[in-house]
This record gives sequence, C-alpha cells and structure tokens, in this order.
Amino acid sequence: MVFICQECGYHSPKPMGRCPECEQWNTFVQREESPQRRAASAGAARPRELSRIPTADAPRLKTPFAELDRVLGGGIVPGSMVLLGGEPGMGKSTLLLQATALMAEAAGPVLYVSGEESETQIKMRARRLGLEGKGLYLSAETDLETILEQVQETAPRLLIVDSIQAVQLEGLGTPPGSLGQVRECAQHLRPWVKGRGLATFLVGHVTKEGAIAGPHALEHIVDAVLYLEGEPHSPYRLLRSVKNRFGPTHEVGIFQMGERGMEEVADPSRAFLEERMETAIGSAVVPTLEGTRPLLVEVQALASPTPFGTPRRVANGVDYNRLLMVAAVLSKRLGFPLGSQDIIVNVVGGLRVTEPAADLAIAMALVSSLRDIRISPGLVAVGEVGLSGELRSVGQMERRLAEAAQMGFRACLLPRTAARRLTGPLPLELRPAATLSEALSVALG
Ligand code: TYD
Ligand code: MG
Repeated sequence: MVFICQECGYHSPKPMGRCPECEQWNTFVQREESPQRRAASAGAARPRELSRIPTADAPRLKTPFAELDRVLGGGIVPGSMVLLGGEPGMGKSTLLLQATALMAEAAGPVLYVSGEESETQIKMRARRLGLEGKGLYLSAETDLETILEQVQETAPRLLIVDSIQAVQLEGLGTPPGSLGQVRECAQHLRPWVKGRGLATFLVGHVTKEGAIAGPHALEHIVDAVLYLEGEPHSPYRLLRSVKNRFGPTHEVGIFQMGERGMEEVADPSRAFLEERMETAIGSAVVPTLEGTRPLLVEVQALASPTPFGTPRRVANGVDYNRLLMVAAVLSKRLGFPLGSQDIIVNVVGGLRVTEPAADLAIAMALVSSLRDIRISPGLVAVGEVGLSGELRSVGQMERRLAEAAQMGFRACLLPRTAARRLTGPLPLELRPAATLSEALSVALG
C-alpha cells in the first residue's frame, strides 16, 4: 500500500495529515502499489557496472516529418516518453494523427488513444487529410488500466495518449485532469512503456495562463518535452523542444496549418518575409536564432502620440519587458520623446522572438516610426541593447549572416565587439556600431 497526495502526487508509505511537499492538509489517498514499484523496492533493480551495460543503440523510428525528427534529435527513440504540449487548437492532434497514420502503414501498428474526440470524429478528420489509417488503431478509452490492456492486445510500436488530462487511474479519488491524476497516470505509464520499448507520446494542454494542471508537472517524468506554439490567427506553428534526454534542446521545427493539415515549411525565412513592404516605415529585419537554426523575421513598430492618460505599450511576439527596456533606453539615454507615445511592436507571422539579439531591431523599428524615416531595405540588424545604451555581442553571428545573405540582404548592422570576432570572407557587408545611438545614425541617418 502507498499513500499519495492528490495535490502534488507525493508518495508516502504511511498516511500523513499534511503533505511535506506541497504543504496541503488532508490530501492523501490510499492506493495499491504498482507491480513495478513493488519489484523495484524489493531490490529487483540492482546497480549495474557501466561497462557491462549494453549500448542500446536501437534505431530510431523516423516520422514522415523531417522537422519533427530534427526536434526529437533524429527520430523517435523506442521506449521513450515524449510530452507534446500546447494550447488547444494549435494542431497537436492533427500533427500526431498525420505522423502516426503514415508511420503505422510503414512501420507497424500504432495505438492512438483519444479521450477527447470520438472515433468517428477522428475518422472524419483522417479522411479529410487523405489518411487511410492502415495499422492505426483508435481507442476512445479514458481508463488507464483498460488502455494498458489494449496495448497488450495490439502490441503497438507507438502509443499516443491524447490527452493525458483526459485519462485517469481509478481509485485516486480525483477527477481527470487534476494535478494528482496527471502525474500519477504518467508515472504509472512510464515503467510500463519503458519495459516494452514502446515509444509513447502524451498530449498535454496548456493555456496561456498555464491554468490547466499538467504539462509542467510532467516535465521531469518524461524524456522529452515539445511545445507546439503559434498565434491563433497565423497559420505558422513552431514546434520547440524544451527538454530532450536524447537530443539537443531548443531545437525548432516550423510548420504551417493549412487545408490539408500540418505541412513543413521548407524555407521559413522566405515565408516570414514574403509580405514585407521594403519601403515600409517602422520595419526592421533581424536574423534570429531558433535553436541552431537562423531565421529572418520582420519586426514592426508603431509609435503614435498618446491621446490622453498613460502611454500604452503593446508587445506582440516580443518580450514585453524587453520592449519596456528598449523604450526606456531610447527615451532616457538617447532623448527620444517616447514618454508621450503609444507603442505597438509586432513580429510578423505570429512568431515569438525572445532573444535579446532582437533589441536593436526593435529600437530601429521604433525610431523609424517615430521619425517617419524608413530603414534601408537591404539592411538587417542584430544586437543586444544594454542599459547604458551600449550594443552587446550575440552568439553565432556566422549563421545569422549566412542566412541574411542568402535572403538577398546586403549589409548587417551589428555590435562592434561581434564584428571584431568575425574573420575570413564574409557573405555580406558589416556595419559595426558600439552604441545604440551610433547604430541609429548608421541605419537612419
Ligand atoms: P487540433 O489538431 O485539433 O488542435 P489541438 O489538438 O492542439 O487542440 O487542431 C485544431 C485546429 O486546426 C482547428 O482550429 C482546425 C484546424 N485545422 C486546419 O486548419 N486544417 C486541418 O486540416 C485540420 C485537420 C485542422
Ligand atoms: Mg486535440
């Protein structure tokens, strides 16, 4: 017997009044210990000498999406547990349905457990996507023990649980989707799928406020955590890995949600700059890095006099606090009258740029709008802005420059310190600047 806190999932061999982890009162319920746990505590799992452990180089399962494979670190590792999180409507179910339907045909059975949609709903979606679904088994079950029985029957190579918030373990006494349930279910599944070498995807919903219990509590239980993000009104979707035991983190895959489901975006820089007006005022292009991949994005800004009251700042796709910082440096150090202006900054294509490397582009777009002067269309800008108005170096300049040159840009405005480090032939002209003020006079005269 084991006692489990329903709030946070803390395990204890005896009942407790107050949970030592989350400090809630009267939250413990009694449960049968799972066979795996019992075996483990009986000493079945002994330490093994490193040299005697066989190298488990089981070949990875390739998905039909090169972008997904790359984010996973080269395909799906058998026996791994991957959490796919994201806001509702981002396309998690669509992406997994497309990937698994094609994989099932090629590599063997897949069990897709959907606690959210009925079999007919999934069938209709599959038909719309042109997926036949040979070898793809659907189940609308939500009871975890029953799901595990189904796994035993179907012996799949891949298990999808869509979503982890919809399934439950009986006897916990808490509703599905509660923190205790979500954690207990994942913890219950883990040794089970590991033992069978069964690769598993758990879908987890998150809201902007992180209101629904789940994904964050699961991050340490699973092997990899991927998030699918994007703006509701933009077709672009970014698949990010924030944790990966079997590959690099912060890798990004770019998809587009269209008529025929999720499609890979082969040339994202081109896609994101497609509608750019080269003569536009208040527009700057920054070569950012998403994981190891360079991506050119357009930052737009609009500064307009505040009609009354406190000036407003709106940040779409850039970090709000970075925008405040850049605006403060512009007004306090460089004397731009932003205190009487409403400011809107927008990253085109529904992307989110969190890198400080975008500071300079934000500042340039703002001043361009304020002064009504356009930035030379062949120029990209990259650099972090410090509180004294100095420009600070950013990493991986070579990659950024190569991408900008490939997209037809002719020059790059960058911190002097970063320019000094660059040696050898360069794909485009460098315009080094030590301070924000210097950079602005290069870009806007
Ligand atoms: P879905 O995969 O259900 O999202 P999630 O599982 O993350 O909640 O995707 C739902 C949205 O995607 C829905 O708004 C409709 C849209 N969509 C398309 O635009 N094209 C398609 O081919 C499909 C299947 C869905
Ligand atoms: Mg879904």
